[in-house]
Amino acid sequence: MQTDFLVIGSGIAGLTYALKVAQDCPDKKVMVLTKTQSDETNTKYAQGGIAGVMDFDKDSFDKHIEDTLVAGDGLCNRHTVEIVVKEGVERIQEIIDWGAQFDKEPDGDFKLGKEGGHSAFRILHHKDITGQEMERALLEALKKRPNIELVSHCFVLDIITQHHLGYLVTKSTPDIECYGVYVLNLQTNKIEKILSSITLLATGGNGQVYRTTTNPAIATGDGVAMVYRAKGRIENMEFIQFHPTALYEPGVRGQSFLITEAVRGDGGILRNHTGEAFMQRYDERKDLAPRDIVARAIDNEMKVNGTEHVFLDCRHFSKEKVTEHFPNIYDKCLGIGIDITKDMIPVAPAAHYSCGGIKTDEWGRTSINNLYAAGECASTGLHGANRLASNSLLEAMVFAHRAYIDAVATIKAGQFPPSNKGAGIPAWKADGTNAPKEMILITQSVKEMKLLMSDYVGIVRNNERLHRAMKRLDLLYTETEELYKKTIVSPQLCELRNMITVAYLIVKCAEFRHESRGLHFNTDYPGKSSMVQNIVL
Ligand code: FAD
Ligand code: SIN
Repeated sequence: MQTDFLVIGSGIAGLTYALKVAQDCPDKKVMVLTKTQSDETNTKYAQGGIAGVMDFDKDSFDKHIEDTLVAGDGLCNRHTVEIVVKEGVERIQEIIDWGAQFDKEPDGDFKLGKEGGHSAFRILHHKDITGQEMERALLEALKKRPNIELVSHCFVLDIITQHHLGYLVTKSTPDIECYGVYVLNLQTNKIEKILSSITLLATGGNGQVYRTTTNPAIATGDGVAMVYRAKGRIENMEFIQFHPTALYEPGVRGQSFLITEAVRGDGGILRNHTGEAFMQRYDERKDLAPRDIVARAIDNEMKVNGTEHVFLDCRHFSKEKVTEHFPNIYDKCLGIGIDITKDMIPVAPAAHYSCGGIKTDEWGRTSINNLYAAGECASTGLHGANRLASNSLLEAMVFAHRAYIDAVATIKAGQFPPSNKGAGIPAWKADGTNAPKEMILITQSVKEMKLLMSDYVGIVRNNERLHRAMKRLDLLYTETEELYKKTIVSPQLCELRNMITVAYLIVKCAEFRHESRGLHFNTDYPGKSSMVQNIVL
């Protein structure tokens, strides 16, 4: 199979890019791959909304830039922050033009919300299901583009480079090229090779590396692992953002339900088991301090008091406000016996967002030629050591747009190799592999990995925990590679392999960072180092 533009991922980043490329190049073929259903993405679960300066009387680009820099704790790339904040407004208008609806006041102005770390009301939202609405609008718009083919249930295994032509490719190879990908087509159960002139990775986050996460099952860091295997550059993986308020539901495994930060933006108060509004002891911004501070405060309250959760109190909200702004949360909680207008909501932090990822430049280019990355899998320099709430949907659209501009300009200038350059690439080799004998070998390793990452590489870290985590990951890695060599590939096995790689990258970056900054808190290095730097592997 061949295509001009290959897009891996059907979340906000992949779909935004695909729509733009397809519109600009109607004679070119655009193929979008997604590993399960087309809308099963982190994007679909976004609740709070998308940050953007809309009210220039009460807000400004400078304020949004400053808030992003403060949240990022000294590690944001200022140029990237300026790009995202300033270009973001135009991108928001584009998705509105594609059909996304954001809540409005009776006078027609947007209803703007507020979240932690924001100094102004600037969050556009669609009730508490903003991501679902944006994903819907993008998929609808996609249907109108005949030159886009969306292939669901198609699991990308690896990026094809010169390595597959038999050349030695190392981290110091200067001109690694991407020719396309190998995929496991889950509808035919066959492994196919798809060649492309240009590939965009928009594979989303990696929350599933942890035991408790707000991310859906697809968030296994596949794009990051693939680029690392292909010897591309990965950056700042230690900065895993834990959302302070996931619904605490004992016994529930997999994805935790999020209680959006917008609840605190509207006046929700965090309380410990004695009923104390404890955030005032931790930060003068109280419940609306940046996420790293709030998550650490909750973690500390839980540890000191020996509890498994704290509470979020919005009993003072009117029923009208709750059902209008937070109908999804209201229904979900009611379904488990909690009426949030009368009862406090039990909440605990959960892995939520990966601030680091595949290193990209200001046009979304990775260190591998013909390969772009956008969205949560990319590390653009926007988030630094901690992402400001609701900046990720914005970043995904801004960098999808920038990748589109650069890719189309270059392809029009004839600078990209034709996709048949990789024609000599062999078919996937499955010799010597057999059907898996026992799924337990995979599921148990997944459990072990999640447990060790949550216990040793969570909100608070230290050198001994990181060292132990690395030793145990090493064993899991060896066992999984042995299994991979002799077993017919399956999404479960490939996801395990990818998650172990991502876990390794998180621990490795954490070991290299000899300070506490933003989301990385190491009790052996409690202060900040003056030698602030990005960690690139
Ligand atoms: P995703 O939307 O996650 O899409 C990833 C795509 O890649 C999927 O289609 C998946 O199938 C595909 N994929 C992955 N691996 C493979 C593979 N091997 N083969 C084929 N396909 C593959 N951000 C905000 O700005 N505001 C919010 O209010 C907000 N709320 C959030 C609430 C929740 C519960 C969560 C989980 C996140 C939230 N975020 C929010 C973060 C934001 O939603 C994500 O960062 C963003 O949606 C990521 O978009 P993406 O396009 O990069 O990836
Ligand atoms: C939320 O709604 O609290 C999530 C916002 C975000 O992750 O940006």
